[in-house]
Amino acid sequence: MAGSTWGTILTMTTWGESHGRGLGVTVDGCPAGLSLREEDIQKYLDRRKPGQSRFATARREGDQAEILSGVFEGRTTGTPISMLVRNTDQRSHDYSAIMDVYRPGHADFTFDEKYGFRDYRGGGRSSGRETIGRVAAGAVAARLLAELGVTVTAYTRSVGPIEISEERFDLAQAGENRMYMPDAAAAAEAERYLEGMMAAGDSVGGVVECLVNGLPAGIGEPVFEKLDARLAHAVMSIGAVKGVEIGDGFAAALNVGSRNNDGFRSRKALERGGKDAASADIQDRASGEEQAVRDFGDRGISKTTNHAGGILGGISDGDTIVLRAAFKPTPSISQPQQTVNRRGENTEITVKGRHDPIIVPRAVVVVEAMTAFTVADMMLLNMSARLDSVKKVYGR
Ligand SMILES: Cc1cc2nc3c(=O)[nH]c(=O)nc-3n(C[C@H](O)[C@H](O)[C@H](O)COP(=O)(O)O)c2cc1C
Repeated sequence: MAGSTWGTILTMTTWGESHGRGLGVTVDGCPAGLSLREEDIQKYLDRRKPGQSRFATARREGDQAEILSGVFEGRTTGTPISMLVRNTDQRSHDYSAIMDVYRPGHADFTFDEKYGFRDYRGGGRSSGRETIGRVAAGAVAARLLAELGVTVTAYTRSVGPIEISEERFDLAQAGENRMYMPDAAAAAEAERYLEGMMAAGDSVGGVVECLVNGLPAGIGEPVFEKLDARLAHAVMSIGAVKGVEIGDGFAAALNVGSRNNDGFRSRKALERGGKDAASADIQDRASGEEQAVRDFGDRGISKTTNHAGGILGGISDGDTIVLRAAFKPTPSISQPQQTVNRRGENTEITVKGRHDPIIVPRAVVVVEAMTAFTVADMMLLNMSARLDSVKKVYGR
């Protein structure tokens, strides 16, 4: 199967099927000397593994990470890092009923059309378990980014129609509830909503939001390898993602230029004007509202707002990167649905087996991993953008 590799300098190749002997990833291009232990990988895998709550599939997997290569005495060696998770709780017979029948909303029909053959056990490569490799690779990237002062944080923004409120936003809360929502009240409402959907044998979608902080300005390669284009590609490649937004995203289409543009401010100029740089209030010309200048970057330049989501011209502007991914409802539902079988006969299907009534809470760490990996790759790629930087590496 082609198309299993992502990245330019830092690359991941994921492999394995839902009900094969195991799944994993090979990460290549990671600089030598990075401290990396199996516990670093496990922490990430534990956030996506099934069986965490009654809203996650009842399949119980240990999902234990094993590092097979590329690490010696706790440090990366600069050689390919191969990581494996063995499948230990496959129940292939759960899927025998759908051997010849296409699940609506899943990839059964299109895989069969493409290859003339499909691994019907849990969807094979199109299963959510494929994301194990991505998450393990993302854990390596997060370690690398930590060395560079960059953090990537994802959480659930909405479950069906229930959205977190900006006023109640509390990141610490995201780790405290099963929805991964940084808003305890919204999480409680979302759980009640899901209970109702589960009782009806239905499923729901939602939105994951991801923030990248500490990324310097200048990361991203015009024109085909823009940072926003790469992030959208990376996140859109996750199963069930149907839309990706950067900054205001689709809402920007409803705005006007005078409000959508993020004004620039220089710390030096503000200091000369005798204002306290960190808390200087800037008059927003368009809205007439008083707005604080956001954090100043290395050059002392900041923006009054962040409608752009931290990216201009495909290059990071030093502000927080804001990305959102829209997930569709889980395709496998226990209600009867119309479908056809491989012989082209009309039939009905009621999907049995173990499926999440919502994908979003388990996908939060997958979005975080793909974002972290892509940002780390783009940071490495940026190192050759200026002659000065290249000379510095070689001491010339
Ligand atoms: C973490 C994760 C878990 C998933 N779990 C399920 C599941 O339990 N049942 C299901 O039908 N689809 C699940 N999916 C979604 C399918 O993999 C996906 O909808 C399918 O491959 C079709 O691809 P598409 O929705 O991108 O078109 C999951 C996806 C992810 C990312």
